[in-house]
Amino acid sequence: MYYTLYVNIGQSHQYSYDITIGSKLLKESGELIRGAVTKRTKKAVIVTDDVVADLYSAIVRDSLKESGFETDIFVFPNGEQSKCHETLLNLYNFLANSQITRSDIIVALGGGVVGDLTGYAAATYLRGVNYVQIPTTLLAQTDSSVGGKTGVNISAGKNQVGAFYQPVIVICDTDTLKTLPPAVYSNGLAEIIKHGMIYDAELFKMLCGDDFTDKIPEILERSVSVKINVVERDEREKSERMKLNFGHTLGHAIERYNNYEFITHGSAVAIGMAIITGISEKKGLTEKGTYKKLTDCLKKHNLPVTSDAPMKTLYEFCLNDKKRTGGDINVVICDKIGLSSIRKMSVEEFRAFLGA
Ligand SMILES: NC(=O)c1ccc[n+]([C@@H]2O[C@H](COP(=O)([O-])OP(=O)(O)OC[C@H]3O[C@@H](n4cnc5c(N)ncnc54)[C@H](O)[C@@H]3O)[C@@H](O)[C@H]2O)c1
Ligand SMILES: [Zn+2]
Repeated sequence: MYYTLYVNIGQSHQYSYDITIGSKLLKESGELIRGAVTKRTKKAVIVTDDVVADLYSAIVRDSLKESGFETDIFVFPNGEQSKCHETLLNLYNFLANSQITRSDIIVALGGGVVGDLTGYAAATYLRGVNYVQIPTTLLAQTDSSVGGKTGVNISAGKNQVGAFYQPVIVICDTDTLKTLPPAVYSNGLAEIIKHGMIYDAELFKMLCGDDFTDKIPEILERSVSVKINVVERDEREKSERMKLNFGHTLGHAIERYNNYEFITHGSAVAIGMAIITGISEKKGLTEKGTYKKLTDCLKKHNLPVTSDAPMKTLYEFCLNDKKRTGGDINVVICDKIGLSSIRKMSVEEFRAFLGA
């Protein structure tokens, strides 16, 4: 049993592809990819990190071979520090040595680090080679593999260099989630809870239920649908896509306060969503009871809801967030579970809003 979602996106030219979600899909990845490329596509280079390589590269490689692809594999050390120009350059050289042409394919197999780096390499190598996303973390399956944002970090900032570049197909095998460490799992759940909060009350309800492991494919289908809907309407983040930043302006500030070391992105976003919703509910902008429902759900999934960071410091860090447009800050508010809105605030209004 699996779901196929159809993405139709693009400003300069229309572009569409499928996202397939379900169990036992790695074994079928070769066939699925074959269906998404032309007959001329001979080679497939798998790009992955060392942890995922040990777990899943053999099964994907065998499947690609069965579907008639010549395969090669590029493995780099797992972790955010690999999402950099050094790995990128090594990958370009690997693609050159493998004599990859524009009619071949690059397969990103792994979490968001693999997906972002590989997507950016695919966007830029030979001015664009087709690529496939096979996300293996909950965050990558629900968030980073959808929407076409690719990139690498530089010392000036995370994701500072990048491109919008869409894959030819996304394959989410939910069985891969079974090997995730608990903290990596919770990290992805925070983004799914976010999708429920901003767009899908039913999804939020499912996440509050007791045991939902058997509902994971359905939960992912709903969560990915939220991201697709938003991204289709606004690929380049001019308006609607900003709603995906719910909890993120404060979340990024909390990550920075913790030197990006002592807290995961998902935990920081969880705190960001909780703080904003606590304030907006007190100000009468959010339906009563929402804060409690949100924080109960976050706690249930071992996500934090408070931070010891002084609000004044967080406010100052928020002002440096790259998502700001001009002098204003776009604050995403959850009106009630499943519904959100964007409020443009001046810096002074935002300071007063936070009580900083
Ligand atoms: N492009 C976007 O729109 C977007 C959106 C959100 C986040 N991101 C980016 O995503 C990155 C974070 O992604 P992530 O949380 O997936 O981190 P990650 O890719 O570093 O993966 C986390 C850890 O889990 C391991 N792992 C991956 N799959 C596994 C599996 N199935 N079983 C066991 N271990 C596994 C990895 O080796 C790694 O150690 C960040 O760089 C962030 O900037 C991008
Ligand atoms: Zn996020």
